Amino acid sequence: MKTGLFERVFERRADVVRATPGRVNLIGSHTDYNGGMVLPVALPIGTEVAVAVTETPLIRIFSSKFEEVVSYSFTDKARGHWADYAAGAVITARKRGLVSRGVDVAIEANLPAGAGISSSASVIVGVLKALRRLGDAALSETEIAQLAREVENAFIGLPCGIMDQMAVAVGRTDCAMALDTGTLAYELVPLPPDLRVCVIHSGIDRALSDGRYARRAEECLEASAAFGHRPLCQLRRSQIEALTDLPETLRRRARHCSAEHQRVLSAIGALKAGQLETFGRLISASHASLRDDFEISLPDIDDLVSDAVALGALGARLTGGGFGGCIVACIKPDRFEAWISALLSRHPRARLIC
Ligand code: GLA
Repeated sequence: MKTGLFERVFERRADVVRATPGRVNLIGSHTDYNGGMVLPVALPIGTEVAVAVTETPLIRIFSSKFEEVVSYSFTDKARGHWADYAAGAVITARKRGLVSRGVDVAIEANLPAGAGISSSASVIVGVLKALRRLGDAALSETEIAQLAREVENAFIGLPCGIMDQMAVAVGRTDCAMALDTGTLAYELVPLPPDLRVCVIHSGIDRALSDGRYARRAEECLEASAAFGHRPLCQLRRSQIEALTDLPETLRRRARHCSAEHQRVLSAIGALKAGQLETFGRLISASHASLRDDFEISLPDIDDLVSDAVALGALGARLTGGGFGGCIVACIKPDRFEAWISALLSRHPRARLIC
């Protein structure tokens, strides 16, 4: 920064500046609140936050995207505003003793919101890491991610899992993060040089807070209850099919989670073995499952995904929470240029993010 941005708005220097990436999830959708594996990778684009403590009892937040300063007190609740994520991070950090005075925050956001590439986790983790530094607190990256999830779950009210927060707190751009969301154990798996990961916005915006994500989370809870509260990702297909009185919708949700978890395990194996065709096929199979069993895709996104593959991608799928936003596609680097121009000319609303 962008300390320049902070100085322009708050007329003093920032105490700490922090850059945090966005993330794209290669495979493992909606497994992170069902006891399963995910495979995200950090993006080369993200968010910068500049923070300073003040003598006021207020949290003041500015974003380069909205060009306005918004104020919160430490007792405020979320108000459905873009600034809730940063405010929630400061309020939650205060409860943990990371900060005791007012805080000014300037955000330089380079990630589109509502696109499925973790713009909110990037802001929250960035603010929490800046406050950790200011408060000289001994919190690990995993603890930062857990605190960031608490901001989403308790302050924002989104019942999300922990993938995004772990991916942006710990992840790297040159490695996929094989994360067990049940134990938070992870392994960084290097991405081979002959694999290019592309993020393409479908042109369809969506908000996770519109209730559809929460509805899926509820359905998964209901389905899990029918199996004695076993995490859906730990069930076998045969167990799911054997429970004959399970309502069809819940069966589909359970089927997706169980199969998706297995696909992530296979994808990690394929990536490590350099079997990129297999890796790509698993990514495309994940999309089919999101479309047919988890039912969070849209016809335009299905077309974008199938054209991405027809035109030469190893695999492609919807990424993020669903109902819009970005797809992720894997392609051999030497095919990229011709492929992306053919794909975008067939889908004029779509755009390459990175
Ligand atoms: C959103 C949530 C994550 C995860 C994905 C779907 O990004 O924040 O916790 O559930 O959707 O995989």
